[in-house]
Amino acid sequence: MYNMTVNGQPFGTEADAETPLLWVLRDEAHLKGTKFGCGIGMCGACTVHVDGRAMRACITPIAAVAGCAITTIEGLSPDGTHPLQRAWLATQAPQCGYCQSGQIMQAATLLKDYPQPTDANIDAVMSGNLCRCMAYVRIRKAIKLAAGMQEAPGV
Ligand code: FES
Ligand code: FES
Repeated sequence: MYNMTVNGQPFGTEADAETPLLWVLRDEAHLKGTKFGCGIGMCGACTVHVDGRAMRACITPIAAVAGCAITTIEGLSPDGTHPLQRAWLATQAPQCGYCQSGQIMQAATLLKDYPQPTDANIDAVMSGNLCRCMAYVRIRKAIKLAAGMQEAPGV
């Protein structure tokens, strides 16, 4: 049995130690916002936070996150009003949307480390999150808009 918190709630699973966190989140916790893309840590679609840091859930064994605080896109904010979520809506960043929960979760850690990120910061932190719809320009615009919202709460 592995215990952790998921989006602030206690959660336990009897999954085998090597079961990827992604499948526990999707199949047992029924949190479908976290996506399967490549399964080998190369696309970022499955990005969640583990103790506040972005991690690839597809290559994270459940045993490695016992006792940790897991946050998925569903738990990023209680009501969907995180600056990134508002900026994503304002810029209409997604196309098909498949990569976008991973993009937002990665961007959330970007803004923690770089509250006013430069293009170089964005390139460095976001380059592992792939978008087959090539929405990169809108994603960058949304990140910068969110950074401004953080500076001026209530925008
Ligand atoms: S599905 Fe995890 S990085 Fe691609
Ligand atoms: S919006 Fe379609 S993969 Fe990114």
